[in-house]
This record gives sequence, structure tokens and C-alpha cells, in this order.
Amino acid sequence: MNKSKMSSFWMPFTANRDFKAQPRLLASAEGMYYRDVDGNAILDGTAGLWCVPCGHAQPRIVKAVQQMVGKLDFAPTFQIGHPAAFELADKLMDYTQHRYGQVFYSNSGSEAVDTALKIALAYHQARGDGRRTRLIGRERGYHGVGFGGISVGGIAGNRKTFGPLLPGVDHLPHTHNLEKNAFTRGEPEYGAHLADELERIVALHDASTIAAVIVEPVAGSTGVLIPPKGYLQRLREICTKHGILLIFDEVITGFGRLTTPFAADYFAVEPDIMSTAKGLTNGTVPMGAVFVKQWIHDAFMDGPAGIELFHGYTYSGHPLACAAALATLEVFEEQQLLAHAKSVQSYWEDAIHSLRGLPHVIDLRSIGMIAGIELASIPGKPGARAFEAFKRTFAEGVLIRTTGDIIALSPPLTLEKKHIDELFGKLGAVLKTLA
Ligand SMILES: Cc1ncc(COP(=O)(O)O)c(C=O)c1O
Repeated sequence: MNKSKMSSFWMPFTANRDFKAQPRLLASAEGMYYRDVDGNAILDGTAGLWCVPCGHAQPRIVKAVQQMVGKLDFAPTFQIGHPAAFELADKLMDYTQHRYGQVFYSNSGSEAVDTALKIALAYHQARGDGRRTRLIGRERGYHGVGFGGISVGGIAGNRKTFGPLLPGVDHLPHTHNLEKNAFTRGEPEYGAHLADELERIVALHDASTIAAVIVEPVAGSTGVLIPPKGYLQRLREICTKHGILLIFDEVITGFGRLTTPFAADYFAVEPDIMSTAKGLTNGTVPMGAVFVKQWIHDAFMDGPAGIELFHGYTYSGHPLACAAALATLEVFEEQQLLAHAKSVQSYWEDAIHSLRGLPHVIDLRSIGMIAGIELASIPGKPGARAFEAFKRTFAEGVLIRTTGDIIALSPPLTLEKKHIDELFGKLGAVLKTLA
């Protein structure tokens, strides 16, 4: 592609000048691989952006979307509906084993988060407890880029230029501690007590002012922070004790990333609301879904007649997204994707931890089909070393993702041992070359 033609797309979360000087352009995708515009195969170590659990161009999903676009290209869902949106909602309830009674559709993870926060606030209002307006997030949390999401989020770079943010927000401390927990497989031992910080926040503001706590069960975008053993259980207990809603932001962990349907299943901790997106449609059509306990919804249905929640998106429940999501759920079932991911999980984990001892590697962490590789930063140049690893690995034909000096891996769940060998063979070789 002619570089002079690349100046008008202001790319998201991208070093635009660096990219445009040396572009990386993908042209097609199938299964575990992308192909770039020069025809080189690139192993997808990140499922796009944590989006493609079933592998790329999955034939059943492609066909479902193609059929739907020819049949019902668009239909609104305000005061009118279409069957696929209802069918999908029922199938999603089955997928949660009916632990949730309702689903609200959005078009992205950011919108799912803001929807979850708004439902939490409106729920307290609906039952006559409108003083509960405070939202509690966590340091290093990533909840997308809406004003709600960045307000409860805890990544400084995503917040600092966009103030003022939502008032009445407080943050739990993050749980990352390399001194105590480096090179852990699965949940680290140290840190459950950090959940008790919620008691401190409750004591400060009083429970009667707090609407909800939102956390990612495994924080992804900040660089794979795995919750300490017992931490999420403790958060759950404290929220229940004080009548505070617990929201899990499962935008990356939902739909199989931990080899279970949701992280809530993996950790056996049930939030009141879950925000999801990404893997829901295998990334093919943008969609988010917010899962809500039936009793939360009931509080709205007990109110006056008329519109119960003044919220929604033009594209909530878009027919193409519904078709993609229905087909994705079928692929999960038919191909027993979770069982397959479980069957390669220990091989995957061994491969990650085989990188121990390579230059600059200060931590390796892993859970489900996620890995985090933390590199020592070059003094005065945070993020530069991992970004160099990203560029070199891409040139070798493997896609990884970096955030600061942490490499995050999250491949499609369809991966096989040969892909794991290729991914870690090439990544390990690159790590050895880094200055
Ligand atoms: C936990 C979490 N929440 C929300 C989002 C935002 O999703 P989107 O980029 O689809 O708006 C992300 C994206 O990575 C995420 O990881």
C-alpha cells in the first residue's frame, strides 16, 4: 500500500507516526493465522485483540453473518424487535446456566461497561435507595474508554487528559506484587487481604452511598494481573454484606478465555452483573452483552408502566451481531472448544514458564489461555523494550500484544501444540536478541 495514502486514519491506541513510518498491514485471516499484505503468514498469539476464540474466518460464523445480511440487514430494537435478538438472549441465559435472567446488548466492551454502571445506579434508584451513587473501581483497571469506564478505570494514561471524570468514584489498590508473586502459575498466594481495602473505603464513605464495585476478574489490558487466591471471594463477601452490587468486567475473560464460560465460573464467584463483548461474536461483528441477575431487572419491572430504562444503542441487538453470536455459541458447543482448551492448557503453561531465565524476563504468569511476560524496563524508556519485542516478533511471523513492558498472550482457543511450539520458539528467539 502506498504510504502517502495512509495519513488520514487516526489510529486508536497507536503510535501513529511510528506505525506510518513502518506499517504492519493485515490482509486476510484464517484459523490460527493472519496474512499480511505481502502474503506472509502471522501466527495469531492474541486472538486479534482477545476477540477470536473460535479461530479466524470460522466457516459456520461466516455463513451465518452472510445469510443474515441478505435477510435482515438492520432492524431497530427500540419498541420493536426481531427474532434473533430474543433467540440469542435465551441461548446466552443457557450459557450462564440460568444464573442470570436478563441480557442487555451494546456494541463494544466500553458500552457494556457504561451500561453496567448505569444499570447499577438506576437499580438503586428504582428500589428507592437513590443515595447509592458512588462507584468503586481499581487501580490499573481497564474498563474501556467511555467516561464511565475511564472514571472507574485505573490506568493513568487513559485518564489524565480527559478530565473532569465522573465524581464520586474511588479505587481499590491493584494486586500486582512481583516481590511476593513472581513466576506464579495460576492464582498467586499473596494478596487476598487487599480485598479488605474495600472495608476501608466503605468505612470512609459509608455503605449507604456506594452503588457498585467493578473489577476485571483477571486484569488484561494493564498486563495480565491474576487475582490472588481468595481475593475475589472476599470482594464478593464484602459487597454482599453492605448491599453493594459487584460487577465483573468480563470483556476479555468471558467466552472461554480461562477454559470456562466466564471467569466467574473459573473462580466460583458470582457477580451481580457481568459486562462482556469480544469473544461473544468471535470478533466478527461488534457486540457487547451485559448479563444481569433477574432480581435486579425485577426492581425495574415493579416500577411505573412505560419505558423502564432510558438507555440503549441504535445497534443494540443488531441482526448481524446476533447471527454471529448465535453461530459462535454453536461452534463452542459443537467443537467442544472449552474441553480442547483445557486439553492443551498445561502444555501452554509449561511453554510459557520455559522462558524463565531469558534476558530481561522478570516475571512469567499464566492462567487459562492467558499469559503475561514482564520485562525489565530500559531506564528512562518504559515500554520501549516490549514494543521492540512486538515489532521483531511480528517480523518473524507471530502477533503478540504489549502494554508497557508486559507482553500479553491470548491465542484463539483452537490452538494446538504445534502452534504453541511455533509461538514460543519464535518469541523466545526474539527475547534473546533484545538489548
Ligand atoms: C476488561 C475490558 N473492559 C472493556 C474493554 C473495552 O472494550 P472495547 O474496546 O470493545 O470498547 C476492554 C478492551 O480491551 C477490556 O479489556
